[in-house]
Amino acid sequence: MLVAIALAALALRAGLALRRARHAGARRGRALFERHYRFAKPAVVLGVTGFALGPLSMWALRGRAPFETVHAIVGVVAAGLFAATGLLGRRLERGTDRPIEAHARLGVALILASAAAAVMGFVLLP
Ligand code: HEM
Repeated sequence: MLVAIALAALALRAGLALRRARHAGARRGRALFERHYRFAKPAVVLGVTGFALGPLSMWALRGRAPFETVHAIVGVVAAGLFAATGLLGRRLERGTDRPIEAHARLGVALILASAAAAVMGFVLLP
């Protein structure tokens, strides 16, 4: 999950470069978009997969009931934000519509929520 968060932070950085160029009215080359996708796509896949593996590990490896900790609740929120940001990003990529502001805000929220989930997860380490 730490890799997912690190990739998400790099995706956010690349996304903010896209935003700055958009506001400046500059031409945004293919490379700028590719840099964003390179970090963002694996971040979304890892973020959502990690969410599924967490409760599975609590139940199968540790013999504890899943979804009983604050870490799990914040984790559900973070996973939902990963999925929502990814879905809106896909719509932007395909040109279906332009939910740019929602995509950017969810992207920032997912970083905050997953960082909070990570901090809360430390107490669960053996
Ligand atoms: C970790 C997940 C992600 C974060 C944190 C993130 C963050 C951002 C941010 C901050 C922007 C700038 C928006 C603006 O111009 O105001 C952006 C733009 C964009 N993102 Fe993402 N994003 C993520 C995932 C994705 C994914 C998975 C895709 C595609 C499948 C995607 C596609 C796009 C596109 C196409 C734009 C440019 C929109 C435009 O101005 O035309 N993003 N992203």
